[in-house]
Amino acid sequence: MSADEADAQRAEMLGVWERAAPGWGERADEQRAFGMPVSAWMIDHLELHPGEELLELAAGPGDTGFMAAELIQPGGTLICSDAAEAMIEVARARAARLGIENVRFQRLELEWLDLPAASVDAILCRWGIMLILDPAAAAREARRVLRPGGGRIALSVWAAAEHNPWASVPTQALVELDHIPPPDRNQPGLFALAAPGGLRELLEGAGFGDIEVETIELERAASSVAAFIAQTRTMSGAFAEAVNRRSESERLAVEREIATLAEPYTDARGAVRFPARALVAVATA
Ligand SMILES: C[S@@+](CC[C@H](N)C(=O)[O-])C[C@H]1O[C@@H](n2cnc3c(N)ncnc32)[C@H](O)[C@@H]1O
Repeated sequence: MSADEADAQRAEMLGVWERAAPGWGERADEQRAFGMPVSAWMIDHLELHPGEELLELAAGPGDTGFMAAELIQPGGTLICSDAAEAMIEVARARAARLGIENVRFQRLELEWLDLPAASVDAILCRWGIMLILDPAAAAREARRVLRPGGGRIALSVWAAAEHNPWASVPTQALVELDHIPPPDRNQPGLFALAAPGGLRELLEGAGFGDIEVETIELERAASSVAAFIAQTRTMSGAFAEAVNRRSESERLAVEREIATLAEPYTDARGAVRFPARALVAVATA
């Protein structure tokens, strides 16, 4: 891929996030509850102290960082960052609502962090690093901005598609109806770092040490398949944009296909409970 093609792909992916941001704001409470076990693991394993500088990357609505902000008080600052301006606006409004005061907001691209070397004590990055063209560059950048010796990083990515039907079922429905090609797992996406050992290799390759990787099981629940589809349309810009391009009858066919694929996860009252599996890692710089 040429540098121009790579930049075009980055701009296209970022555009999807900019457009999805308002929906992420509307569903931020839901997302906070869904991801709580992962956020709690990441925050616990960072062992934060008062006065530390904490950086959240690809923060989206910012909740993981906001949950940690109290632990660096007094004297510590959270830098809440994302590449999408609209996501930063969502996070800014959320921090104001939650009364988080020791936070500043900055637009940062994971692959080139506009921060001085050795300037932060700890980094959080939940469900972001697998979505970009060059995760290895992002891991090197993260290590560069951490203080050598004491700096720590906590990351989370998704395990393989078969452990995450909440995400793979809607995509599978689009593929089965020939609306999109089968996903290329070598491209940026939810499962790009799902391979066993992938997260550890990424961190080792960037020079991190004391690497610990674990698996966390979650559950994505909705009161009905229709509610699950509405949730997916808000949270997955790629799904929403693929569906919005179809005719009304094609959209209904996608919904029927999702309902069929979701049957194993649907109870007698029509509520759906999909398993989800995240990988989490902590390491020192
Ligand atoms: C799946 S969301 C995760 C948001 C949040 N961390 C969470 O766990 O709920 C991915 C986030 O990564 C951001 N993002 C995408 N590409 C990025 C990049 N190149 N650099 C920084 N952030 C990026 C998106 O704008 C979005 O907010």
